Amino acid sequence: MKLLHIDSSILGDSSASRQVSAAAVAQFRKKDPSLEVTSLDLASDPLPHLDVEALSWLGKELTPDVSARPELVASARAMKDFKAADILVIGVPMYNLSIPSQLKSWIDRIMVAGQTFRYTSGGAIEGLAKGKKIVLAVARGGLYGEGSPAAAFEHQVTYLKAVFGMMGVTDITVIEAEGLATNGGADRARILSDAEQKAGAL
Ligand SMILES: Cc1cc2nc3c(=O)[nH]c(=O)nc-3n(C[C@H](O)[C@H](O)[C@H](O)COP(=O)(O)O)c2cc1C
Repeated sequence: MKLLHIDSSILGDSSASRQVSAAAVAQFRKKDPSLEVTSLDLASDPLPHLDVEALSWLGKELTPDVSARPELVASARAMKDFKAADILVIGVPMYNLSIPSQLKSWIDRIMVAGQTFRYTSGGAIEGLAKGKKIVLAVARGGLYGEGSPAAAFEHQVTYLKAVFGMMGVTDITVIEAEGLATNGGADRARILSDAEQKAGAL
């Protein structure tokens, strides 16, 4: 079994999503010591914004003249690792109501028509990345749960569920550490400990 562990927080050691994603990966390793884990840190090793040249190579074998270009190699690697993974654990901070742009750049490499989804003749969409398990380790400063005043501004989990759902992934677990900045951060330790506990029960 292969697990792809992705982090995207820019906050390094003080990142909440990194803490929770690490707990989730530790739990999967505990359950399956032979698990093959690949790690991708999109903050320290970012993919550039998708441009038309990178787009033209997505899903294709790089020819020898471009095969040493680091940005194209990284694109190809992102797609290969995504396709190969049975489990993905993704650390997802909320930045400005959505996901970090580093994570969006990764999604732009893996959500490719004809590779991970396809448009059918009737206009419907068929996911081509079925059978994966995805855990989203989500962190946010505020509260965006159902019924909260800011619920309509939540474009982090809803967006990622749409992205992976369109690629055919149905097994998506969300572990939320939210409200980290409410009450001046007084509840942070408890919220994080609850989230880590959920990760430890996966
Ligand atoms: C650039 C930036 C933008 C943020 N935007 C939001 C936001 O829109 N809503 C929110 O609730 N928290 C926001 N926060 C707070 C983060 O969601 C919070 O610090 C969370 O812990 C981030 O995850 P991380 O610790 O893994 O980086 C923002 C933080 C940063 C650094």
